[in-house]
Amino acid sequence: MTQTPPICNYEGSDYQSTFWDQGGRSYEDQAEAVALRRLLPSGGKLMLEIGAGAGRNTPRYAGFERVVLVDYSLTQLQQAQERLGRSARYVYVAADVYHLPFMPGIFDAATMIRVLHHMADAPLALRQVRAALAPGGTFILEFANKQNLKAILRFWLGRQSWSPFSKEPVEFAALNFDFHPQAVKAYLKQTGFILRRQLTVSHFRIGLFKRLAPTSLLVWLDSLAQLTGDWWQVSPSVFTCSQADALGSRHEAANMFRCLVCGNTTLQVTALAVACPGCGQAWPVVDGIYDFRLRESVPG
Ligand SMILES: C[S@@+](CC[C@H](N)C(=O)[O-])C[C@H]1O[C@@H](n2cnc3c(N)ncnc32)[C@H](O)[C@@H]1O
Repeated sequence: MTQTPPICNYEGSDYQSTFWDQGGRSYEDQAEAVALRRLLPSGGKLMLEIGAGAGRNTPRYAGFERVVLVDYSLTQLQQAQERLGRSARYVYVAADVYHLPFMPGIFDAATMIRVLHHMADAPLALRQVRAALAPGGTFILEFANKQNLKAILRFWLGRQSWSPFSKEPVEFAALNFDFHPQAVKAYLKQTGFILRRQLTVSHFRIGLFKRLAPTSLLVWLDSLAQLTGDWWQVSPSVFTCSQADALGSRHEAANMFRCLVCGNTTLQVTALAVACPGCGQAWPVVDGIYDFRLRESVPG
């Protein structure tokens, strides 16, 4: 099995309820909704949401016929399934972004929001997303910006050792990374994306502002400030919108999966498993969630 970076484990996490539902983050959530509305294409057939978590953003992809939610954590996907329900519209896939089980070129668009944050090898992850996208497909990538105003001030005041201006990611906690905007731009370019637009988001993510000002006012101010994103980026969060380059071809796949072990693209899908006729590997389907997580092989 190819060695890939460790995965930040959200199995059993109550992230959605503690961070979002009860965490006083409706300003951030609504500011992200504004950015997504501005960047999303008006519609399409198939959308890929990487690191979908509990599906907080998924209803925002209403213009797409089907949405494939990928997350490494089965329990996050179960929460998403509770929120969104089981239907042909949503496909739930437990998989690692470093090993995506999809046919090349089948998605019209992809999003990755608050996920690059956990990537020790960002280009490796972006390359996988690019392979799954059709040429010309849209990719909305959010990243946590190390060159944010608070980090700059803390650095100048000598209260932070790392420079917000240097290009390498800063790992401020285990498997939690902030990125420099220039570095993300370079990663996108080297992995086959053409950067079209940037929106800076969550400018007013400061406790005092959030306590004193109505959320609607902060969101409105943020929606104006977002528009400066192509000129400078000093907000804590940045939304980029890129287009997949012309390489490869679009596939209209009746079956969207490919085998992660041997690459076979004629997998047999039943309600209980996805089986590979090439190498015999079987991937379970657990309560409507396809489980493509790779396991270390156990010595026989
Ligand atoms: C901070 S949460 C964001 C969830 C959602 N995008 C949102 O904005 O509400 C990060 C998500 O990324 C997932 N994740 C982290 N590393 C991953 C990987 N290597 N492959 C797939 N998902 C991953 C986690 O399981 C978690 O659900």
